[in-house]
Amino acid sequence: MPTKDPQTFTLKNNSNGNSWDLPVIEGTVGPKVIDVRRLYADTDCFTYDPGFTSTGSCESKITYIDGDEGILLYRGYPIDQLAEHSNYLETCYLLLYGELPNNEEKTKFVSDITNHTMLHEQFNTFFHGFRRDAHPMAVMCGVVGALAAFYHDSLDINDPHHRMVSSYRLIAKVPTIAAQAYKYSIGQPFISPRNDLGFAENFLHMMFATPAEDYNVSRILCKAMDRILILHADHEQNASTSTVRLAGSSGANPFACIAAGIASLWGPAHGGANEAVLIMLNEIENINNIPKYVNKAKDKNDPFRLMGFGHRVYKNFDPRAKVMQQSCHEVLNELGIKDEPLLDLAMELERIALEDEYFVERKLYPNVDFYSGIIFKAIGIPESMFTVLFAVARTVGWISQWNEMIEDPTQKIGRPRQLYLGETIRDYIPLKKR
Ligand code: SDX
Repeated sequence: MPTKDPQTFTLKNNSNGNSWDLPVIEGTVGPKVIDVRRLYADTDCFTYDPGFTSTGSCESKITYIDGDEGILLYRGYPIDQLAEHSNYLETCYLLLYGELPNNEEKTKFVSDITNHTMLHEQFNTFFHGFRRDAHPMAVMCGVVGALAAFYHDSLDINDPHHRMVSSYRLIAKVPTIAAQAYKYSIGQPFISPRNDLGFAENFLHMMFATPAEDYNVSRILCKAMDRILILHADHEQNASTSTVRLAGSSGANPFACIAAGIASLWGPAHGGANEAVLIMLNEIENINNIPKYVNKAKDKNDPFRLMGFGHRVYKNFDPRAKVMQQSCHEVLNELGIKDEPLLDLAMELERIALEDEYFVERKLYPNVDFYSGIIFKAIGIPESMFTVLFAVARTVGWISQWNEMIEDPTQKIGRPRQLYLGETIRDYIPLKKR
């Protein structure tokens, strides 16, 4: 529970001497918050924080990030320990329920998810409304939102059972939709999910198997994919999670909220960065060009940024990037790829940037997206599918945060205000007088 901190902040209006004591609330760890919920009523002023650089939007018990120390905890467990010892479905259970499952709980959860992976046969027609060259994220936005048109039996957001059924359906079906979006883009038939395969193995099988021959996924690639899913599963109140919470605060159904989260994730400043990193590395092309692009990234007049670098919260290494870089080497070794020029280029770019005052001063480090694309490419996943994989992994985080919000008895519809800079009131001007 949040605790009222003995300290308060006093706000003083110097023009009339009025002052207000603002209460401070303390969580279990991390920055305290100044409670400004009464500010407008008391002072007739709003706070102003575009981009929410200093704003806590909610209470949460799911994920904690210490950006200065490069710490990421899912329900208190460090991300590197989960990446090393857990697996994605166990992590899904942890994020949803708050505790690691015992053997019985884990077996039932895995069975429940496994038995929800198929899509209604009519879903296949949805894909055929898209051009074959449609970006898979456009397909994901449309088809995931369409789940609400099929599953009317789990749309009552005030029914805990409905919420969990919808949560399970989303965790289970989003990978199937993602794989079908890929198959549709390359003109291959959809591959049905299989109940005898694990989550990551099933996803890779749906992506790469064909009716013409068996496809056996290597254990290393399964482990690498499963680890990548864990690393991307949740991340506190990032842009797409905040989008899901804001959409959900109006009472919208969970399928519509997750579709909104997918749309937000697509942006290159957010989940779209993994695709943008590969495009950037291919544009840089070789190590000799790195200084030119580092200078472009530093040039205020140039919109170019080093994709996969920087983070609103991490002012140290993104712990996920460290695990991802280790995975890069494992996957490339497993695939017998002795030298991947893109990895060499990425590591040299990281070295040069981290020695450059501009990046050091601004504490810009590689983030989760910097290395992930290199692994995806090595596995055979096309760049246009990179952010789709991020969405597959993040669905559990989004739906866990959505459940937490709906279960919060204090939650209200999110409705920010503004600093208005437009025209004051004026009379309509008839056309003949304009
Ligand atoms: C994700 O929020 C999350 O948790 C997101 C995420 C998750 O798991 O959900 O972690 C996933 O989205 C990771 C981030 C992926 N995006 C990118 O890699 C795109 C490149 N990065 C930047 O666009 C940027 O760093 C952001 C968007 C990630 C963060 O932007 P902020 O916090 O708003 O920082 P800013 O734009 O105010 O930058 C501060 C300074 C600026 O310079 P000054 O004006 O102070 O001189 O740093 C500079 C920026 O110009 N800067 C960069 C840079 N990132 C910041 N300069 C060059 N290259 C960059 N990548």
